[in-house]
Amino acid sequence: MFKQYKEAIESSNIVSKTDINGIITFVNDEFCKISGYSRDELIGKNHNIVRHPDVPKSNFKKLWDTILAKKTFKSTVKNRAKDGSTFYVNTTIIPILDEKGEIEEFIAIRYDVTKEVELKMALEKKERELEVLNRTLEERVKLQTRKLYELNKHLEERIREEVRKNEEKQKMLFLQSRLASLGQMMANIAHQWRQPLTELALALFNLKKAAQKHDDALMDAAYGDAKVLIQNMSQTIEDFINFFKPDKPKAPFLLSESLDEALQILEKTLVKEYIDIHKEIDGTLKVTGVTNELSQVLINLLQNAKDAFRQRNIKERRIDIRIFREGEDAVIEIADNAGGIESEAFERIFDPYFTTKHAAQGTGLGLFMSKMIVEKSFGGTIDGQNVDGGAKFSIRLPMES
Ligand SMILES: Nc1ncnc2c1ncn2[C@@H]1O[C@H](COP(=O)(O)OP(=O)(O)O)[C@@H](O)[C@H]1O
Ligand SMILES: [Mg+2]
Repeated sequence: MFKQYKEAIESSNIVSKTDINGIITFVNDEFCKISGYSRDELIGKNHNIVRHPDVPKSNFKKLWDTILAKKTFKSTVKNRAKDGSTFYVNTTIIPILDEKGEIEEFIAIRYDVTKEVELKMALEKKERELEVLNRTLEERVKLQTRKLYELNKHLEERIREEVRKNEEKQKMLFLQSRLASLGQMMANIAHQWRQPLTELALALFNLKKAAQKHDDALMDAAYGDAKVLIQNMSQTIEDFINFFKPDKPKAPFLLSESLDEALQILEKTLVKEYIDIHKEIDGTLKVTGVTNELSQVLINLLQNAKDAFRQRNIKERRIDIRIFREGEDAVIEIADNAGGIESEAFERIFDPYFTTKHAAQGTGLGLFMSKMIVEKSFGGTIDGQNVDGGAKFSIRLPMES
């Protein structure tokens, strides 16, 4: 019965026995297998042959204190096999007492828990790593958040800077186009003045003649002519100066008045270039804005038509101007018969500095500025298309309700 019991234990466990000094007196096959030592190598040796150097001395003291006190010791122990590998065993050491109650020997029963321990340790290691990872992750998130924040701040600044630069560029373009149209205006003034200057020369000549003849009546007439001419010329200057006065306030105005202003400024040019203007105008339509700005747009469009007539040497020159209402919008159409916009140029005519003209004639700013004025100042739209042997520009402006 006892023998069977013993066999059962020995076959399913790792068993060893030592004397009271810890010298091995018995090992079973399982012990040899797990420790890697043969039975011969083990019998007669101290049990600490399988001791692992990692295990602190205090553990062994506790072990010995327990079993020498005739108590059973139970623990998971880390051991080292012959080949240096580590194994873990759940160990129970029982002191065997003789009839007198003295310790005769120790019997140790163990089972292998290396896999479980290693798994547990691996798990713990992973947990620790995870914890570290978690911590660093948190830090990294914080860091990234901060970086992102800085980037954002930086970006905002850069956007502001770019916007500012852009605004400056727009302003420059405005100024440039102002200068360009000023140049065109000067040419127009020159045209406007040419005729009265000739007439003034004639009036002076008449005055001289009258003075020589002592003809008071003729003198008065010549003087009167000259005075009217000079008044007209100075009025022309007034008109132009007025036209270029900056920062006029926005106010409702009649589209027809703005058109008349433009036509008046171009009057002599149009006559000199033999351009017929045909008008079909609703004289009641009003929009809100700066009247001069719209006049400038119309001048740009009319000048472009004039340039096209010249460039293509058109004989019968005709510009049709229509102002009409379409829903809530007022529409101004300016159509010429000068051959139309070149197809390669079509996409780009509203781009700044785009021109198909000789450098001395074109700045490429006219249509760009016109678009800016129509869109920014009036909240409207402008587009150009080719129709009936010419170009037609349509300006659509929202009206006051
Ligand atoms: N009425 C038109 N007929 C033909 N082409 C035109 C007309 N108006 C504008 N264009 C084209 O659009 C271009 C750009 O016009 P614009 O911006 O006023 O600059 P610029 O008059 O200095 O060339 C012109 O060079 C021309 O090629
Ligand atoms: Mg132009």
